Amino acid sequence: MKKIILDVDTGIDDSLAIAYAVHSPELDILGVTTCFGNVSVEEATRNTLVVLEKLDSTALVIPGAGKPLFRGPTKGSTVEVHGEDGLGGVLESEPTRQAERGHAARFMREQARKHPKQVRIVTVGPLTNLAMAIMQDPEFAGLVDNVIVMGGAVTVPGNVTPHAEANIFADPEAAEYVFRSGIPITLVGLDVTMQTLLPLTEVRAWRNSGTQLADFLAGMTEFYIGAYQQMYPGIEGCALHDPLAVGVAIDPSFVSAVPMHVQVDVEGILSYARTVGDLRSKPAAEPNVKVCIGVDAERFRKHFLSRVLGVGAQ
Ligand code: BDR
Ligand code: CA
Repeated sequence: MKKIILDVDTGIDDSLAIAYAVHSPELDILGVTTCFGNVSVEEATRNTLVVLEKLDSTALVIPGAGKPLFRGPTKGSTVEVHGEDGLGGVLESEPTRQAERGHAARFMREQARKHPKQVRIVTVGPLTNLAMAIMQDPEFAGLVDNVIVMGGAVTVPGNVTPHAEANIFADPEAAEYVFRSGIPITLVGLDVTMQTLLPLTEVRAWRNSGTQLADFLAGMTEFYIGAYQQMYPGIEGCALHDPLAVGVAIDPSFVSAVPMHVQVDVEGILSYARTVGDLRSKPAAEPNVKVCIGVDAERFRKHFLSRVLGVGAQ
């Protein structure tokens, strides 16, 4: 079993990623850490607890950053994509249990020390918590097995601006700090996630299983697909951004990746928050990131669908 910490800003596709992780026996979830992003950190923590309750999971939930490293607080600007509650309007009640005390960054540091070179951190929100952990402990980067980052768009357009992807845009300085830290990174960006489309017909079929969980996940995902149809006319479904990062933690062969030197533009105007890969045949610096550029989308989608509602549910 691979020990993982899942860092989320729950979020509809974050919820699908949590369900996929909880239902995957290859993964030992040490904890789910939360960050601002799609919603405030308080809402992300609440949503994460609610999703885990629906999954009958008692995984630890540890709240983290409420704002970017160096910029003012941001309230998620993705109401159209994730809904007012961050869950496409399916949130009915508050969670019955509380999050842990302490901070996400401290939790990451403690777990890396407890299980040296064994912890895989999967981030599917802004990189603020991870950057804080690296800043707080100079040995931390060397104690982590690797980091799988859902974020960025190295070879394709962004989704917030022509060049910037949402998780990097939310805290570009944190992303740049992480990329410079020497921590081993696999970047699961829009380069590959935009190829992993989940069609509406599959989501409607979830309801046939007749479980509360299926209705809950189908309700939010139908909302998400509606948002995709507004944003990308003609698209057949929604992108499985955050689930693909979990998929790579389970089975790295879902993707193909190339080592590359990647920097985040933290100052630009037109290319602000862009993940700039040195694609030249003679790059100016050593690679710091493995950038995913290919995905076996069909195999991944089938695997995700076979797990998301629970093993044997479909
Ligand atoms: C990322 O942005 C968020 O809206 C999603 O949850 C995902 O993590 C995709 O750009
Ligand atoms: Ca997310």
